[in-house]
Amino acid sequence: MNHSEETIHQSMGSRWADVPVQALSETDSTNTRLKEWAREGRIAAPYVLTADSQTAGRGRLGRRFVSPPGTGLYMSLLISPPENTDAGKITVLAAVAVCRAIHELTGLQPKIKWVNDLFLRGKKVCGILAERIDEGVIVGIGVNLKTPPGGFPPEAGVAGALDADIDRFALAGTIARYFLDGMERLDTDDAITYYRAHMPLIGQEIRYQKDGQEKSARVTGVSDDGGLMIEDDSGPHILRTGEVSLGSQVFEGL
Ligand code: BTN
Repeated sequence: MNHSEETIHQSMGSRWADVPVQALSETDSTNTRLKEWAREGRIAAPYVLTADSQTAGRGRLGRRFVSPPGTGLYMSLLISPPENTDAGKITVLAAVAVCRAIHELTGLQPKIKWVNDLFLRGKKVCGILAERIDEGVIVGIGVNLKTPPGGFPPEAGVAGALDADIDRFALAGTIARYFLDGMERLDTDDAITYYRAHMPLIGQEIRYQKDGQEKSARVTGVSDDGGLMIEDDSGPHILRTGEVSLGSQVFEGL
C-alpha cells in the first residue's frame, strides 16, 4: 500500500479497514475502470478507486468531466446494495457524504443542487455520476479542489473550486467513510433530512424540460427517495431524473 492509500484508509476508519483502496495518478475514468474490473471479476464490492487525473472523465447526461492533474479529486466507489435498494436514496446519500466530508475537513458548507451537484459561493464544486452495473452500483465523485491554472474551460459551465487547504486523500477516505456508514442506515431518514436542510431550492421557481419543452415550476419539496417535488400550471409532479435550471438570483444563493 502506498502513502496515499494509507491516508485514505486512515480517514475511512477502522470499521472499513478491510475495504480495498487503490490510488492511481492517471486513468481514463475511475467509473469506467471499476466497471471493467468488476465485469472481468478482478474486483468485488466494496472497492474504492481514486485518480489524480482522468483522460476521459465522464459526467451526467453524456457530458465530459474535465479532470486535469493536481487540481481535483476523482474517485469511484463500487458497492453492492441490498436488492431493491432505491437508486434515488443512493444518489442522495452520495451528495450528503461529500457535503459532510468537506464540512468536516474544511468547515466549508456546500449546498446541494438537485439532483446531486454541490455548490459553493454560487459555483459547482462537485459532480456525482452513479451508474448501475450487473455487479452493483458505481458512485463516481469529482471534486474541484483548486482552480486550474488558466481557469476552468467554458465546457465546465459554472465550475468553481473549494480552494481550501485540504488533503485529497483524506477527503477521499472521509467521503468513503460517510458513504459506507450511510449505506448501513439507508432505511433511516438521516441522509434525506440532511439533504433537505442543504438543498435551498425549496420554494424557488425553476425551469425543467418536459417532452422537449422548457417549463417553469415552483419547487415544493424533496420526496423520501430524492425526487424533486414541483408544482406547475398542470398541477403537482415529482421529477426523478434530469436537470433543472435556475434563475441567476437562485444561483447566487447556492
Ligand atoms: C456531473 O457533474 O455531471 C457528474 C460528474 C462525475 C465525475 C466523476 S469524477 C470520478 C468519476 N469518474 C468519471 O468518469 N466520472 C466520475
